[in-house]
Amino acid sequence: MDRLKIRGGKRLEGKIYISGAKNAALPLICASLLTDEKVILTNMPMLSDIKSMNLLLEELGTVIESKDEIIDGNPCKNYTYYTPEFKSLVAPYDFVRKMRASYYVLGPLLARKGYVELSLPGGCAIGARPMDIHLSALEQMGATIEIKNGYVIAKAEKGLHGAHLVFNIASVGATCNILMAATLAKGQTIIENAAREPEIGDLAKMLNSMGAKISGIGSSVLQIDGVERLRGTIHKVIADRIEAGSYAVAAAITRGRIELINAQAETLQTPIKILRQTGVNIEENERSIIVDAKGCTLTGQDIITDYYPGFPTDLQAQFLTLMLTANGASMVTETIFENRFMHVPELLRMGANINVHRHASAIVRGVDKLNAAPVMATDLRASFALVLAGLIAEGETVVNRIYHLDRGYEKLEEKLRSVGADIERIKDSEEE
Ligand code: UD1
Repeated sequence: MDRLKIRGGKRLEGKIYISGAKNAALPLICASLLTDEKVILTNMPMLSDIKSMNLLLEELGTVIESKDEIIDGNPCKNYTYYTPEFKSLVAPYDFVRKMRASYYVLGPLLARKGYVELSLPGGCAIGARPMDIHLSALEQMGATIEIKNGYVIAKAEKGLHGAHLVFNIASVGATCNILMAATLAKGQTIIENAAREPEIGDLAKMLNSMGAKISGIGSSVLQIDGVERLRGTIHKVIADRIEAGSYAVAAAITRGRIELINAQAETLQTPIKILRQTGVNIEENERSIIVDAKGCTLTGQDIITDYYPGFPTDLQAQFLTLMLTANGASMVTETIFENRFMHVPELLRMGANINVHRHASAIVRGVDKLNAAPVMATDLRASFALVLAGLIAEGETVVNRIYHLDRGYEKLEEKLRSVGADIERIKDSEEE
């Protein structure tokens, strides 16, 4: 397994291009299954999760072509997805095990073909993550659902019909899945307490460009009037707000200055507010965000994760790490996932002062410095938090198990090196 070696103490300065959003790209890829015409996605990030989703679609029968493209000087991918017919309606265990988001094939396959078998994803490092909301909504839309040998078998022989749905949790995954399913259902579907994350808005916009009739985009009530068929389209994936927020913290924690090219400030309002309260200067431009912490003395802040537009759980580990060397105490409360402080024991080994209470909140008391240590990444965002700690720690930090980072951060070392970080990847084959 590859590792990252980081020698801390460099102030980061320069520009970083923010890639297309992984969490937008994954449902967009699956939305291509709703039509027998070609769907072209541009500004696609080159990530292992995208490769995994592409392999799953090929397994189902999708023909995928990829082209290199350059957007704002940044090399990225442009993929064409074409599924005139299916060769399988089964999402097997081996795919779902590697990537939970494989469950985005559920809604599209059921809507277009009236049948799907999906291996149940099960829990993961950060929590139990059930699928009850997705399944109950599909039942209300006329599907029959059976769980057998670890698989969900969903059938809708006469097609899905519209329904008035009220989600008990504003689930991102359930909102995307049901949004896709409802586009081809007979009649009208209303989703109350829908998630409002920008990635859902991106999906809804692409579906509308394919001929869907979705209104209420960006609000917590979505109305979908089913149509007979959807057509192909070309769509540019929105910028990754979590990647942007992560590099914003890299600038702040090293007391540096980074311009985040292509970042969309309107999708990051709560994290930007916290950064400003901490003492960091932020300039919001139309097509970039400048994060300037040069000469700043940072003050600890309290953070509570919440559904969008609240503070994103996917930035909790990075912001907790920012607070480690800020003045005073900070309380970080996690409300979305039940086990999302896995980074804390590793940060403690680097000299942080953190107390976690009942897996729900963490009190951070600022310390003068962190010390390098070998650390182990447990999930995607926690891994980035360890990289951040390594950037300011005295000595050489080695982050193990970085395959998590490759799932969600495109060209991580390259981007960090381009702003002055001393970071290198040690390939498995180079290990002693
Ligand atoms: C998505 C994101 C993930 C992010 C999360 C919250 C993708 C691929 N992943 O995950 O990065 O951390 O949103 O912003 O976009 N829940 C249920 N029953 C359900 C569905 C969800 O109880 O049927 C619970 C979950 O266990 C969790 C909460 O609802 O506690 C929110 O989960 P959800 O919004 O569905 O997250 P994901 O879509 O899995």
